[in-house]
Amino acid sequence: MALFHWKKPQATDISQIQMPEHVGIIMDGNGRWAKKRGLPRSAGHSAGAKTFRKIARYCSNIGIKYLTVYAFSTENWRRPDNEVSALMNLFTEYMEEALRDFRDDYIVMKFIGDRSAFPEEMLKLMEENEEISKDRDGMVLNLAMNYGGRAELVTAVRDIARDVRDGALSADGIDEQTISDYLYTKGQPDPDLIIRPSGEHRTSNFLLWQSAYSEYVIMDVLWPDFTEEHMNQALLEYANRNRRFGGV
Ligand code: IPE
Ligand code: IPE
Ligand code: MG
Repeated sequence: MALFHWKKPQATDISQIQMPEHVGIIMDGNGRWAKKRGLPRSAGHSAGAKTFRKIARYCSNIGIKYLTVYAFSTENWRRPDNEVSALMNLFTEYMEEALRDFRDDYIVMKFIGDRSAFPEEMLKLMEENEEISKDRDGMVLNLAMNYGGRAELVTAVRDIARDVRDGALSADGIDEQTISDYLYTKGQPDPDLIIRPSGEHRTSNFLLWQSAYSEYVIMDVLWPDFTEEHMNQALLEYANRNRRFGGV
C-alpha cells in the first residue's frame, strides 16, 4: 500500500504563469460582509478600503502593469446619504495618505470617471495625486470613481461630435481606435482579466467598451475577505483560459 504523505496545502504558485497585463477588479461585497457581522455598511467599506490597499500593493509587487479598481459607480449615488458620505470620506483619506506617505512609491495614479460630481477638495486631491505620480515607472492604478461605462461612452460621443464639428476629425475616419482614444483609459491596453468577488455575475457598467474580450473570473468571496491567495487563484484561472478573440 502506498504511503500517503499529507502535505500542508501550498499557496498557489504563480511564478511561471502567463500574467495579464491589465487587471480590473469590481470591489464588491462590502455591504454583505458588514451585514454578516451585524455592523453598519460603512464598516464594510472601511474593511474593503484596507483590502484595496493590500491588493493594489500586491499587484504592483507581482508585476501587473495596469490595475483598474471599481470604487464607485455612476449608479452608487442612489445609496443612502450616510453611506455615500462614508465612501467619500474613505476616498479622501486614501488620497491624503497617498500624497503624504507614498512619496517614494512607483505607482502611477489615475482617476477615471466623471469628476464634476465631486467637491472641490476631492478634485484637488485627485489632481495632486495624478501630478505627483505621473512620471513614475511602476504600475498604473486607475481608480474608477463616479465611473460608468455608459456615461464614459456618452462623454466620448460628445467629444467626438465636437471634434467633427470643429474639423479636427472626419466622420468617415472614425474607427474602433478612435473610440478607444476618447475614453478615460486612452493609451492603455484593454483589461485582460476582470475579477468580481461577491459572486455576482454582471458587469454593473464597468469598462463596457474595453472589456469586449476580457476574461471574467467571478469569485465567491466578499471583497473585505479577499486575500493575495484569492488574487493568485484568479491569476491561475486566467492563465488556464483559452483566449480566442473570435478565432479558432
Ligand atoms: C462594493 O460593495 C462597494 C461599492 C459599491 C461602493 P457593496 O456596498 O456593493 O456591497 P454589497 O454588494 O452590498 O454586499
Ligand atoms: C458595482 O457594484 C460598483 C462597485 C463595486 C463600485 P454594485 O454593488 O454597485 O453593483 P450592483 O448594484 O450589485 O449591480
Ligand atoms: Mg454590491
